[in-house]
Amino acid sequence: MNRKQIIKDPQNGNKAEAFEAFDNIPANPDPSRTLGDVIAARYGRRALLKGMLGTSAAAALFGASALAAARQASAATPTAPSRYAFDELASGIDETHHVARGYDADVLLRWGDPVFADAPDFDVMNQSAEAQLQQFGYNNDYVGFLPLNAEGSRGLLCVNHEYTNEEVMFPNLGRQDKAEFAGMTQELVEIEMAAHGGTVVEVVRAPDGKWAVVRGGALNRRISPLTTAMVLDGPAAGHPRMQTSADPGGFEVIGTLNNCAGGMTPWGTWLMAEENFHGYFWTDRLDFDGEPDLAGQPEAAQMARYGVPGMWYAWGKHHSRFNIDENPNEANRFGWVVEVDPMDPRSKPVKHTALGRFAHEGAETTLSKDGRLVIYMGDDARFEYLYKYVSRGAVSEDRAANAQLLSDGTLYAARFEADGTVHWLPLVHGQGPLTAENGFASQADVLIDARLAADALGATPMDRPEDATPRGDGTAYVMLTNNSRRKAGQTDAANPRPESRFGHIIEIKEDGGDHAAARGQWSILVKCGDPAIAEVGAEWHPDTSQHGWFGSPDNSAMDADGRLWVATDQGSNWGRTGKSDGLYGVETGGALRGHSKLFFRCPVGAELCGPYFTPDGETLFLAVQHPGTDGTKDLQGFGRASTFEDPATRWPDFDPQMPPRPSVVVVTRQGGGKIAS
Ligand code: FEO
Ligand code: CA
Repeated sequence: MNRKQIIKDPQNGNKAEAFEAFDNIPANPDPSRTLGDVIAARYGRRALLKGMLGTSAAAALFGASALAAARQASAATPTAPSRYAFDELASGIDETHHVARGYDADVLLRWGDPVFADAPDFDVMNQSAEAQLQQFGYNNDYVGFLPLNAEGSRGLLCVNHEYTNEEVMFPNLGRQDKAEFAGMTQELVEIEMAAHGGTVVEVVRAPDGKWAVVRGGALNRRISPLTTAMVLDGPAAGHPRMQTSADPGGFEVIGTLNNCAGGMTPWGTWLMAEENFHGYFWTDRLDFDGEPDLAGQPEAAQMARYGVPGMWYAWGKHHSRFNIDENPNEANRFGWVVEVDPMDPRSKPVKHTALGRFAHEGAETTLSKDGRLVIYMGDDARFEYLYKYVSRGAVSEDRAANAQLLSDGTLYAARFEADGTVHWLPLVHGQGPLTAENGFASQADVLIDARLAADALGATPMDRPEDATPRGDGTAYVMLTNNSRRKAGQTDAANPRPESRFGHIIEIKEDGGDHAAARGQWSILVKCGDPAIAEVGAEWHPDTSQHGWFGSPDNSAMDADGRLWVATDQGSNWGRTGKSDGLYGVETGGALRGHSKLFFRCPVGAELCGPYFTPDGETLFLAVQHPGTDGTKDLQGFGRASTFEDPATRWPDFDPQMPPRPSVVVVTRQGGGKIAS
């Protein structure tokens, strides 16, 4: 199927599903049936979902021994003390969220909530870009917390708004990608643009331990791709490939988009990662299959490598800078990491080209042994690479001097060897194959075309690298969410499963415990999926219960005690597990290494983002993104795609006049105290 056929396929319930399906078209037309095909056929999404795989059906499909193993697993009590002291939550799927017993999970901030004192109250039936620019944006993903006092009872939440779902966001519209975006007027496009970007908002904790938003807080800010001017910085800034008619110098760009995960720097700035930027670019030149026709585009090769133009949104119909026919270089100005100073609402955010251009999932920071800044970054697409950045200088007490650390340093891509070594390959112009003869005339070319540079270096194509979370001891955990396109002949030691539906987590231990090391050792922490089904090939600590295993690790966090927490995004695949997305505590050492335990789960159709712990470990911020959208055709008793008028859930308001709203949730322990301790 081509793009148009996939978009129009009634099996694809919403835009996210359609584009995931589009991504799933095999690059390699190998007709041989893999084990993955067999599992897909036997353990099909529809069959599973309609009956949630009743016991007899499961026994027929997988055999009684698998079920016995599953029952045993569910009854097991861990044989060693868990580092995560809470009673495991039961997995499942329904219209609302759930947290482990003894905790509160309160909705703190919803799409449309006013951010400024004079912002209009949310009126879902009468939205405008002007109002949206003063209200909390859509699809909250990354959440960071910057304390404003010593007790940590006041702080700034820094939240990314990744994308928009028009079919549940606007009344009387429906899905637009199927309809050639016919209903997407300039007004609606600009509301979408205003709902993207980020929000800085002050939050306070009352003496009773409950958090509240400070509407009109002095540092509150909205950032959007519609209005926020940003500086381009680093080796690619000012390069001719970064120049446009609106910005002949190549040093300033309006806005940021598809900000997925991110990070906070040690000096309190916020990093917003630009992920699927390609989806926002448009062309009017289509071939007879309806595919973008890049003939005549001077940058056609790199555009194809990056998937530009993706045409997921109609912005280019109304804003010509997103139309590559008119402004081909604008696409070179997205796909970066953006640094924001939350302490100065008038500061211009900075796009740091030294960190490379790709589909940045996140940008989590740590320090090398000699105090340099190290940032781990995934490029979230099938067969893309894991990167890290090491600054030239060390982090200092001088906040202004630290601003240079993201401008001057070395970007590396990872090569995972079969012997358990990981080599970090520098993306430095003039070194190895990164020369003019190979198409890299300068460091700017190396960074703008970072994927091509990493190809040339022989980095290892991974199963969609999402968050990579470092711990201070020179260890990092890499979430590899899934890769249904990898064929049996394309597996390697670090990506060992063909048609990996459920993903895995890799642990890296850098040489000498130093995050700046050029080499480390890697191992697989867990292979995800249901351990009771042999064909899935999952590997967990055997004491992991039926509630504790998961699929599609995505965002992750390290708490102050060095414990790893993993949030999932199964997309429309939750039907393969029968579980909504959630947050899990995953043991990384000791007798329970590889054991996982469910702490929180989402309402149907949502993915879980954030997670972020306050430094005292007493508060956990979570972002529930796109509730009611993914995979709702498979929800028993609902069985159709959600729309504004007819959603699978109206979480979190459950108001018949209100569609589901992406929201930030705050988790605290009843009676106070550290979470999971
Ligand atoms: Fe925006 Fe990789 O998730
Ligand atoms: Ca993500």
